[in-house]
Formats: sequence, structure tokens, C-alpha cells
Amino acid sequence: MAVLVCGGAGYIGSHVNKMLNRMGYDTVVFDNLVYGHREAVKWGEFVRGDLKDPEEIEAVFDTYPIEAVMHFAAYAYVGESVTDPEKYYFNNVACTLNLLRAMRGHGCDKIIFSSTCATYGEPARVPITEDMPQNPINPYGASKLMVERILSDYGTAYGLRSVALRYFNAAGADPECEIGEDHDPETHLIPLVLDAASGKRPDIKVFGTDYPTRDGSCIRDYIHVEDLAKAHILALKYLQSGGSSECFNLGNERGTSVLEVIEAVKKVTGKDFRVTLSDRRPGDPATLVGSSDKVKAVLGWEPKYAEIETIVEHAWKWHEKMGCSE
Ligand SMILES: NC(=O)c1ccc[n+]([C@@H]2O[C@H](COP(=O)([O-])OP(=O)(O)OC[C@H]3O[C@@H](n4cnc5c(N)ncnc54)[C@H](O)[C@@H]3O)[C@@H](O)[C@H]2O)c1
Repeated sequence: MAVLVCGGAGYIGSHVNKMLNRMGYDTVVFDNLVYGHREAVKWGEFVRGDLKDPEEIEAVFDTYPIEAVMHFAAYAYVGESVTDPEKYYFNNVACTLNLLRAMRGHGCDKIIFSSTCATYGEPARVPITEDMPQNPINPYGASKLMVERILSDYGTAYGLRSVALRYFNAAGADPECEIGEDHDPETHLIPLVLDAASGKRPDIKVFGTDYPTRDGSCIRDYIHVEDLAKAHILALKYLQSGGSSECFNLGNERGTSVLEVIEAVKKVTGKDFRVTLSDRRPGDPATLVGSSDKVKAVLGWEPKYAEIETIVEHAWKWHEKMGCSE
């Protein structure tokens, strides 16, 4: 039996695919390569296909004995989701229905879904726990919440069992430096700061220095991609052993401010670069930190790389390797 990794040529999916193979699972990666990279799929089978085409995903289930699905395939640019919501509702929600139909038709009843802390919107308090209200403030977050709802309804009606993992900020890279983060366009803070350190960007902008935080800049929860991958394996084992549908936050519980990330990058890389202090951006909450009590208690998950400097160190190693191959 194999695990289908939808969107497995992307950043997080490729790391999970590597770990699955290392742990002895057979995998089939399905990706349209709109944002993914063929060279990131170094393990398991690769099928180039698009979830928008029901026949392409049906063919995967006809060809391979798929026991469970990990579903990373989505668009994830928050700003673009505001200006072009159709793109997000179509790809993230409607295309997911094609995947779920193929699963049902082939008796596949286990799915692990990449959800997000963006489903909570602006939380009333931190750390955010799973029972807090989900009020997304942009179409991206709303599209992910819709899929969570669909999975719940499919559970009731068809017996589908799902684990929704609500990631906070995925960061870092494979410690063995075989794969890493390569988004285009890049919007995540750590790779952008690394670009400033390597001179690819003239500076790094800090949006807001008057937030009610310890240094005035926004605080976010960075989780190492390898720790994220581990949680997927634990979630799979949980479903394989008969666990019922669940949702878990996946964060570090340690908030790191924008200015602290910049300091960590300067320390790890030994490079100095220009930091430009700017006004706040609309829609950025001061602090987003998740509680990981539930995932620790139910799945026995523990982060291995919780220190921001380790996360930055692995990301930098990958950044330098990519720079060399350009
Ligand atoms: N990166 C983060 O910090 C973060 C945080 C919260 C949630 N997430 C979620 O995790 C998932 C993975 O994120 P990522 O950073 O690895 O993104 P990514 O863009 O690197 O990976 C997504 C992959 O899905 C593929 N894809 C998209 N639509 C597809 C379709 N219709 N058919 C086939 N393939 C398709 C893309 O080509 C890409 O390879 C996404 O669902 C994202 O919303 C990411």
C-alpha cells in the first residue's frame, strides 16, 4: 500500500515525502508543478497531474493501491487570495472535492490535510488553542476552513477519517540539505531575510515597530519543516491505528519577533545588512502563537528543532546551496 502525497513537489510536501520514504512507506507524489519542483521529488513515484482534472487523479487511484492521502496541494498567497478569491476557492476547495471523490470511489478513508493558523483570523488570545473560534479574515484562510468543514461532513456521511494540521509558520530546511524552501514568489520572512544577508535584496523591511510586543515588531511561531514532517507521520500512524478525526495546531509555542529573526540571521550568517523600519501593514495581528499541548498529548509529538537559530542555520545552508547552483 502507498501514501499519496498531493502537492508533494512543494516545500512542505517534499520534506514529508522524504521522511515517509525514510520510514519505509511507499509514496506517490501527485503535483502539477505550478509551484512545485520536479527535482524536489527524489523519493517514491512521481505523477504530474492537476487536481482540477478528475480523470488525472482517478487514474492515480486506478494505478496505485493508495491507503492514505496527505493533501498539501493548494495556493497559499494571502494577498493574492484577497484580489483573486476565485483562484483560491476553485483550487483549494473545488479541486479538493475531486480528490475526495476519487478517494471515496476507491475505498480510501484516511486523509491528512494541510490547514493553517489563518483559519483563526485575529485570535482573542494567545497561545491559540484548537477550540478557539475560527474566523478567517481572508479568502485563503476561509478556503482552508471550508475544507475542514467538508472533511468533517464526509466523516459523518461516508466514514472518512481526517487529521487537519493547522500549521503556523513553516521554516527551515532538510538538515541533510537535499531539499529546502524555494517559493517563487517568496513571501516568507526567513528566506527574505536570508536574501538580504546574501545581497540578493538591498534590505529587509520591518512592517511595524509599535506593536504591543517585547520589541515592538510582530511575533510569529516558526516551526521547523522537519518537525512538521514528523507530525504527519504521527498523524498517519494515528489514523492507521483507528484514530477518529481530529485537528491539531502545529507550532513551536515560542513566539519569535521579526527583529529577533533578523538578529538570528545576522548571527548565523555572520553578515550585516540594511534593516528598514516601516509602518504597519493592514491585517497583521501583533502576535500569533499556537498551543501545541493537544498534538503533544494525543500524537506524542515533540519538536526537535525548536531554536530559531537552528531553523535559520538549516535554511541558510540550503540557501547557500541554491545560490551555488544558480
Ligand atoms: N508554508 C507555510 O508556512 C504554510 C503554513 C500554513 C499552511 N500551509 C499549507 O501547507 C501546504 C503546503 O505549503 P507549501 O509552503 O509547501 O506550499 P507549496 O506551494 O510549496 O506546495 C504546494 C504544492 O501543491 C501543488 N499544487 C497546487 N495546486 C495543485 C493542483 N490543483 N493539482 C496538483 N498540484 C497542485 C503546487 O505545485 C505545489 O508543489 C499548502 O496547502 C499551504 O496552504 C503552509
